[in-house]
Amino acid sequence: MKDALQCPSLFKAYENYFRIGAAVNGRMPADPAYDALICRHFSSITADNQMKPMFVMDHKATLAGGDPLHAAVRFDWVDSLLSYAREKGIAVRYHTLAWHNQTPRWFFAKDWSDAEDAEPASKETMLTRLENYILDVMNHVNTAFPGLVYTWDVVNEAIEPDQGAPGLYRTRSPWYMACGEDFLPAAFRAARKGQAPGQTLCYNDYNAFDPVKRDAIIDLLKKLQAENLVDTMGMQGHYVMNNMDISLCEAASRAYAALGLNLQVTELDIHCNSGSDEAQQKLAQLYGDYFAMLRKLKDEGVRIEAVTFWGVTDADSWLTGFRRETSYPLLFSREKKAKPAYDAVMNM
Ligand code: XIL
Repeated sequence: MKDALQCPSLFKAYENYFRIGAAVNGRMPADPAYDALICRHFSSITADNQMKPMFVMDHKATLAGGDPLHAAVRFDWVDSLLSYAREKGIAVRYHTLAWHNQTPRWFFAKDWSDAEDAEPASKETMLTRLENYILDVMNHVNTAFPGLVYTWDVVNEAIEPDQGAPGLYRTRSPWYMACGEDFLPAAFRAARKGQAPGQTLCYNDYNAFDPVKRDAIIDLLKKLQAENLVDTMGMQGHYVMNNMDISLCEAASRAYAALGLNLQVTELDIHCNSGSDEAQQKLAQLYGDYFAMLRKLKDEGVRIEAVTFWGVTDADSWLTGFRRETSYPLLFSREKKAKPAYDAVMNM
């Protein structure tokens, strides 16, 4: 396997198709090897964590501020990654504004209480807090770093068929518990106010290829579209090698595009629990077929804006923790070599 820094640039190879992105963590910009790898192969970055609400909302300052409707925010982590991107000329997709995970529980509580049994804030309060938060983030980013962010994950993971609710909403989300489904249009309305020209607003979810979940997402997207609130469907793309079905990915992509939306693959990885040649060849075949499908859609006029890998090398994939077994899911190895999957994606 070749050193990834000796290989032709991924993003340049895809220049006529879509941006190629990677999720990066807070340590990578200062690591010369990662910096070089990112700059060579990716034209877009996403923070794997540091732009999520838990890293932006500031409890102490919120309590000190004493405003029940306005959480205080801090942007040191956001700014450090945005400064890196600006310096390197790399575009950014902002992940994420409204999510049930990695958002402090005190944000949902009356009087910003951090107690486990705190009384929840009212729906009205939460809708106002949501709008204030979204506008604070967007105004800051668009003022301090104009032109850098091209898309916003406004709402992440609001549909969950397993919870069996009407509309297949994720009912055990603190957002749903506080506001029902109304938090979705509210978040997107705020984001429409905060967006800068050229930025797209994205609804993002996983298993978006699954026909049952897909149809529920489509119902949601149609509701948002009735108010012109959404531009892009983000299919996360956390796949598993042994049951990935590219024809379902294609059918779902077409179904979202048929609504008139742009498309993004936002968090691509294919879990593979072996580094053996055989397994890595199989992974390569899947990646090759998947990218061939995406190129075909793009050639047919589907507006694919970007494809973002969730990590740079296998060493920084979240899957090893999430799946509780070592994962080898990306294009570059732990030793920063280009894997067969890289060759398959480049073979067009
Ligand atoms: C993951 C990060 O990669 C991990 O480091 C973190 O511990 C948990 O979140 N869907 C998403 C991402 O939208 O934000 C998640 O990222 C992966 C699943």
